Amino acid sequence: MKIGIIGTGYVGLITGVGLASKGHQVTCFDNQAWIIEKLNSGTPHIHENGLNDLLGQVIKNNLFKAKLISESSLTDCEIIIVAVGTPTINEHIDLSYIVNTAETIGRALKQTDNFISVVIKSTVVPGTTDSLVLRTIEDVSGKKLGQFGLGMNPEFLREGCAIDDFIYPDRIVMGHEDQKTLNLLEKLYSPWDCDKISVNTRTAEMIKYANNCLLATQISAVNELANIAAATGNIDIMDVMKGVHADKRWNPILPNGNRIKPDILSYLIPGCGFGGSCFPKDVKGLRSFSKHMGVDSFVLDAVLKTNENQPLQVIDLLTKAVENLNGKKILILGLTFKPDTDDVRESISIKIIHQLDQLKVEIFAHDPIGIPNAKNELKDIPGIIYTENWVEVLSTIDVVLILTKWDEYKRLANKEMSAKLAGKILIDARRLLAPEAFPGSTYLSIGLNKCSYV
Ligand SMILES: NC(=O)c1ccc[n+]([C@@H]2O[C@H](COP(=O)([O-])OP(=O)(O)OC[C@H]3O[C@@H](n4cnc5c(N)ncnc54)[C@H](O)[C@@H]3O)[C@@H](O)[C@H]2O)c1
Repeated sequence: MKIGIIGTGYVGLITGVGLASKGHQVTCFDNQAWIIEKLNSGTPHIHENGLNDLLGQVIKNNLFKAKLISESSLTDCEIIIVAVGTPTINEHIDLSYIVNTAETIGRALKQTDNFISVVIKSTVVPGTTDSLVLRTIEDVSGKKLGQFGLGMNPEFLREGCAIDDFIYPDRIVMGHEDQKTLNLLEKLYSPWDCDKISVNTRTAEMIKYANNCLLATQISAVNELANIAAATGNIDIMDVMKGVHADKRWNPILPNGNRIKPDILSYLIPGCGFGGSCFPKDVKGLRSFSKHMGVDSFVLDAVLKTNENQPLQVIDLLTKAVENLNGKKILILGLTFKPDTDDVRESISIKIIHQLDQLKVEIFAHDPIGIPNAKNELKDIPGIIYTENWVEVLSTIDVVLILTKWDEYKRLANKEMSAKLAGKILIDARRLLAPEAFPGSTYLSIGLNKCSYV
């Protein structure tokens, strides 16, 4: 099938190469010329495991190209998938990129008699596709639904394992407003054999929000439990969660006695909060939508409040552990919002660095691949010393702060490495390492406080 994708970011590009890898003829459109140039030369502009190889393969097979967006180049697509950003402005979802794209599509539809289905993949609040998008396309094109098709196909990929998530999805949600679009979506996804959920577009939109909001709720709930455990003293929240994870409703037991260990358990581990371009934005988006609908959103309010507070727990641990922070050398390990991505949008590390900057400490920062994006995000803090080799600086610093769960930081627990930390403070804000591995250091973390207050 001939597919056009508008918006070639984390979602659009993975969707593009993923669909092309199954034999579809894909053109990815963007309004940024540098992205188009890079992609056509075979180099992705974002980091994602396996993306380099897959992009090279689909270009070689003549199944993928990138183009600067123009109305005329959209007219020969059977499906146009919209994957532009939907950021937050003043706590509300900003749908201006969606409207702008719908206008472009409307102008394209005016130029052709071909039937084209427009499918929104961006995360948008319920009712956006069947009202705002539909109205905009109809107004600009002068056509009515039926002369073009309309669908909503939310994306559930996780940065860091996005290619795998796209190639092996757990479900595909096929929201549609007309039968032809459903037929086209079924054809598009016929190479995939997973649960396919066929609903109207506003249900599809709500599925995406419900999914992300429930995951974010779990994270904030566990973080709150961790803070209670720490305040109580002599409770390690990791021991608590071990007991909770053993509940067969979270972690089912197979007939042979083994556990399934579902991924959901990784959302039930305490930390310094969730970041990224999705969870904070989507919880805020649904919260403001719910207010707009006249519905109280007590849970979503609390999820966000806990999450805003959680980075401060790290600062609290630090200020309690070090009497005079002035001029102290702090090494930040991890700048991206999660491991295996270069994405620093809404990263908790960035928030914590801003807090640290107020404390007049000397900041050293490492990330395996996120440094260029972090430098851009932290332009206002010129004094940060970025290092490519965190092991080298270990001996010179006073405090190590683990903020992202990159695998390579597990090396800290090696005997030789942990010896380098003797007499220093290690704050493991993601519970990556076992406290016992650092007998000579002050190991501090979320949900762990050896003193008893009660
Ligand atoms: N990143 C994720 O992990 C993820 C996962 C699921 C869903 N989503 C949703 O997918 C959507 C896209 O997210 P993303 O992370 O890929 O965003 P992104 O910012 O990485 O990419 C958006 C792209 O759209 C382009 N763009 C904007 N306006 C355009 C226009 N008028 N014409 C052509 N191109 C245009 C931008 O230049 C950019 O390259 C959002 O709604 C997001 O919530 C993201």
